[in-house]
Amino acid sequence: MLQTARLDEAVEVSGWVKTKRGNKQVCFIALNDGSTIHNMQVVAETEHFPEELLKRVTTGAALRVKGLLVKSAGSGQATEVQARQITVLGDADPEKYPIQPKKHSLEFLRDNAHLRFRTNIFGAVFRVRHAMAFAIHDYFNARGFFYLHAPLITASDAEGAGEMFRVTTLDPLSPPLTADGQVDYKQDFFGKATSLTVSGQLEGELAAMALGKVYTFGPTFRAENSNTTRHLAEFWMVEPEMAFYDIRDNMDLAEDFLKHLIRYALDHCMDDLLYLSRRLQEEEKDRKAEERSAELIEKLNSVLDNPFQRLTYTEAVDVLKCSKANKNGKFQYPVDRWGVDLQSEHERYLVEKHFKRPVILTDYPAEIKAFYMKQNPDAKTVAAMDVLFPQIGEIIGGSQREENLDKLIRRMNEVGIPAESMSWYLDTRRFGSAAHSGFGLGFERLLLFVTGMGNIRDVIPFPRTPKNAEF
Ligand code: 4AD
Ligand code: MG
Repeated sequence: MLQTARLDEAVEVSGWVKTKRGNKQVCFIALNDGSTIHNMQVVAETEHFPEELLKRVTTGAALRVKGLLVKSAGSGQATEVQARQITVLGDADPEKYPIQPKKHSLEFLRDNAHLRFRTNIFGAVFRVRHAMAFAIHDYFNARGFFYLHAPLITASDAEGAGEMFRVTTLDPLSPPLTADGQVDYKQDFFGKATSLTVSGQLEGELAAMALGKVYTFGPTFRAENSNTTRHLAEFWMVEPEMAFYDIRDNMDLAEDFLKHLIRYALDHCMDDLLYLSRRLQEEEKDRKAEERSAELIEKLNSVLDNPFQRLTYTEAVDVLKCSKANKNGKFQYPVDRWGVDLQSEHERYLVEKHFKRPVILTDYPAEIKAFYMKQNPDAKTVAAMDVLFPQIGEIIGGSQREENLDKLIRRMNEVGIPAESMSWYLDTRRFGSAAHSGFGLGFERLLLFVTGMGNIRDVIPFPRTPKNAEF
């Protein structure tokens, strides 16, 4: 409407009241229909409307307004609607409506997540979320990838981390038992123990070994008890999987993909990004200069301008071991030997302090990575790759896959995964095996970066975290 309607045309607009101000003669209503961060200014000359009606125009009320689109006399908007007819579709009692035209804390809005869409900030975040989802499909479609729907219910633990939510129809109080006193899952709905998936990768591999290039994009579930600003129990993951790609092709794709998405946000979401940037600066204005984060648009552009720094885990451990932060005991988890798993404090040190750009770490110790990764000739490391981003830490995890049947079975034995239970997965290595690779992008972590929001609970409509499944 703001973009397409012509001046002096009769228009009809529907939306929710953001604010109302004015005087005895005239009343200005800021109306928003959710399509953009910008409001439509509705001007109502009070003499044309019953006082009772205008009283019901309060923040949050739903209105339909018929009137004339005219050039705005005021500053702040090019056009406004001169109201001829106002209908209050739904009142919002100011005594009871929680979202008032003042600054609410993000915590308060999380408790009112059912209404937080009505705020400017969450309107912006969820419009950007949509744009990023669209851009992901667009990116892969344009490059010959096929969208694959991986199952959400599964009997296998793809990541082998044992963080799965059980899916069962057995009576929790008296489940059927086997002779040796274990729960008898043979009698469960699927005839075996099943859970919600932690990754669609294994199924993605099966499809890639026939369709060439595929990607999944769906909800993923992890019962890890991490109450951090970067973990959800239910999050969305994008998992491309490509036949005939080695680890280098995989890194090139990951870098190009992330840059494309960020460029797309800058090209298509600028109004919302500018709003989010201003809000962030407002929030941080009392902090010392060195503690403030980079301006959002600048930060997004800086990722586009620089190639990502690529180095091995071994090189990264050397950098960390010798770092001032490590020597001065600044790390909560000191880096004292090769083989330690890197924490987000280490990842962020590499990205924010040392290289000052996104980093792709490769060739991690096999011990700290999943069973399916391609074993390197050194017999210690695997062809893994993690992409690390400022403020976020790990945004992508991926690898080249072990294509050799014997090596894969040996590794599964070592980590205690019975090969018989995953015979279907191993068949891709039995028949027409070939090099292939893929990765997983945490969709909400991408959104944290693009929107500049600080808590992952604020970039998904209804967050699922330990002890929290409201709405
Ligand atoms: O590194 P992860 O565990 O990798 C996989 O699941 C592989 N199967 C991916 C693949 O190769 N196809 O997870 C991938 C990404 C992480 O880098 C992170 O961005 C995100 O998923 N992620 C989470 N995001 C939010 N909450 C959580 N609990 C997450 N766990 C992982
Ligand atoms: Mg990972």
